[in-house]
This record gives sequence, C-alpha cells and structure tokens, in this order.
Amino acid sequence: MVAELDAPRDRPDPKFFVGAGKVAETAQWVEGEDVGLVLVNGRLSPIQERNLARELRCNVLDRTTLILDIFAQRARSHEGKLQVELAQLKHLSTRLVRGWTHLERQRGGIGLRGPGETQLETDRRLLGDRIRQLSERLGRVEQRREQGRRARRRGEIPLVALVGYTNAGKSTLFNRLTEASVMARDQLFATLDPTVRRIETLPGSPVLLSDTVGFIRDLPHELIAAFRATLEETLGASLVIHVIDASDPDRGRHMAVVDEVLAEIGAAELPVLKIYNKVDQAGHAAGVERNADGQVESVWVSAKTGEGLDALGAALLERVSEGRIRREIHLPPQGQRLRSRLFDLGGVCSEQVEDDGSMRIQVDLAVRDARQLMRLGGIDGQLAEQLLLH
Ligand code: GTP
Repeated sequence: MVAELDAPRDRPDPKFFVGAGKVAETAQWVEGEDVGLVLVNGRLSPIQERNLARELRCNVLDRTTLILDIFAQRARSHEGKLQVELAQLKHLSTRLVRGWTHLERQRGGIGLRGPGETQLETDRRLLGDRIRQLSERLGRVEQRREQGRRARRRGEIPLVALVGYTNAGKSTLFNRLTEASVMARDQLFATLDPTVRRIETLPGSPVLLSDTVGFIRDLPHELIAAFRATLEETLGASLVIHVIDASDPDRGRHMAVVDEVLAEIGAAELPVLKIYNKVDQAGHAAGVERNADGQVESVWVSAKTGEGLDALGAALLERVSEGRIRREIHLPPQGQRLRSRLFDLGGVCSEQVEDDGSMRIQVDLAVRDARQLMRLGGIDGQLAEQLLLH
C-alpha cells in the first residue's frame, strides 16, 4: 500500500462519497506515486465509483467488490464458487454501465444481439441469463446437500460447525483436526462437500466437522444472503465451535460480529464452545476452562503448534454428548406415529419388533427434539413424555 487516507464525514457525498477536497488530495497522490488502485472502505454507488475513477484516473474498488474478489479467490467448494459468482454478477448488474464483453466471448458472440438491441441491452440480457442459470444450478446443489444432510442425520453422527472471524485460524484447526483422522475416514462420506469431514475424537466416537466461510465486520448484506446456504449448514449442528484469535487485540469486537451473524441466520440458540486459538502468539497457557456447573466453556489451543489439541478432542466429545437421550424404549403397537417421527429425526439406532407387535427401539436423540415430540398429542405424545421422564 502506498498510503492510507482518512476522510471523516457525517454522511457520504452523493457525487464522490468523500468531499471534493479529499478527491483532489487523493488525485495528487495517485499521480505523484503512480498509484494503480484506490480502495474505498465503504459502499460506493455506481455513480460515485464512476466519478471517482474519472477524477482519480485509476481503478477504484469499493469494499463489497474487494470482498467479493477475495471470496472468489478463496472459494473452495463447487457450491462456494457458484455462490460467489452469483453474488458478483448481482453486484455487477446494479452497476452495468459500459459494454460487458466477457460473456459474449464465452458464447462466441455471433448472432447474440437481438434486433434493435444496444450493446448495453445485450449485456443486461446475458447477465440476466447467467444469473438465472447460476441460481438454478445452485438450487440443485442445495438439494443434493439437503439429501446428504438427511443421510448424515440417519447416520447419527453429530455435526460440529466451525465458525469464526476471518483469520482466526479456522482452516488451520480444521486441517489439524482432520489430518489425524484421514486414515479413519469413512468412504461413505468421501462424496460429501469437501468442507465436511469425519473425525474420530476418540476411537468409536466419530464427529462430523464442517468449516464455514470466515465472518467479517460490516459484511455486505448481499454476501450474507449469498452464503446463507453455506452458513445454514451450521443450523443442523449439535455444537458450534467459535474459533477466536487469542492474540488479536480486537478479539472482543470480532466475537460480537460472529455472534451477530449467528443470530442473523437463526443459530443463536445453539450450544457454543469457544476455542481461543494462537496461544503460542498470545503468551497464554493451553488448557480447558469450565463454568460454575463444571461444563467446558472454552479451550485454549494453538492450531499451529498443536498445544491443547488433545484436551480439545476430549472437550468436544464431552460437549456433543450433552443434551442427548440414549436408551431403549418399549413402544406398544399404537405408538406408530411416534415411531415414524423418531425415524424422521434420525433418532433410531436399532429396532426389534416383538411377537405382539410392540417395538424395542434403541433411541439416540437430542433432548430438544424429544421435547418437540411431546406436542404430538394423544398416545404418541404421552409416550414421548415418558421418553423424557425416564
Ligand atoms: P478465513 O479463511 O479468512 O476465515 O481464515 P481462517 O480463520 O480459516 O484462518 P487460517 O486458518 O487461514 O489462519 C490464518 C492465519 O493464522 C494463517 O497465517 C495461519 O498460519 C495463522 N495461524 C493459525 N493458527 C495459528 C496458531 O495457533 N498460532 C499462530 N501463531 N498462527 C496461527
């Protein structure tokens, strides 16, 4: 970076976003230092972007465009890539003022322009087509993922979702936790989204770990919308791991941002385990912290050096086993509705039908789901109540 300029204002200038004086000052910098790009830490209207680029005589990018660009470079999964492209195109469609030749080249460019259509109209139409095409494709991917999610629920393996402010060390931790388990990976899950992996915290106690995109302060709204589907993976989680950079002086504010995004996608009620990462850099000892009830509240680790990771594995297992009902129940033949709801919820480990038509079912179910079953009413509701009272 050549320079960082502050431009405090009560409200953005409609023409340039910043004041005319600041534009002149910046133009001088651009010329004197041969600057190729000016980044504006805010949201520019298409007109402001164009005016600034003209006055400064160099490329101008606003916050949303920059974040979209970074996301585009970092998107790993097929779905992530589609989502970024869609968000980019939607963003672009609001500021399409010049000819857009990219699609034309891609499609060969012959006979594309309808009769009487200007270049701009053609571009708008192509853009609209591509947005529709991407949306459809995304819809299909989401459907497939929903199927995968259901299959997993049937497999009764708890899902743990990693969330955290960007750069907190989520991916490093994800890789650390999963690399030890590569050998143990079940083939069944090889086709899942690459950002969901199976790990064995303890032999015989598998957990599915999912990585999400990093959160960021003032995340542009269209990006939250674009990544809603990815973030919604988090909603199905039994436990959310909030990764925090312990060495970051701003960590308090960043934690609040993560909490806000979780609330926005409806995940505020999920149980959370805090992981304070980078203890090597923060000069803090690795270890586990419990609250007054003895529940593990936070774990201090270093994903880089591996300190504290064993304790994290144990803490994880402890927390995912909380709030579950695991027992055998004996259902009379009249309890068919309850039985089928238990199957829907993926809460049946095994079932044995007796000669009299009653069923012995080995149940493994979240207490939260069991409470929901009480609302079934009638005999099924009463049986569900017994399931909880046992
Ligand atoms: P996003 O993908 O932007 O959300 O970031 P992330 O949360 O996945 O962070 P990532 O794993 O990419 O790590 C960010 C940086 O922190 C990298 O340079 C890591 O090498 C570094 N890092 C991660 N864990 C540790 C740690 O325990 N100690 C130290 N010193 N550095 C770490």
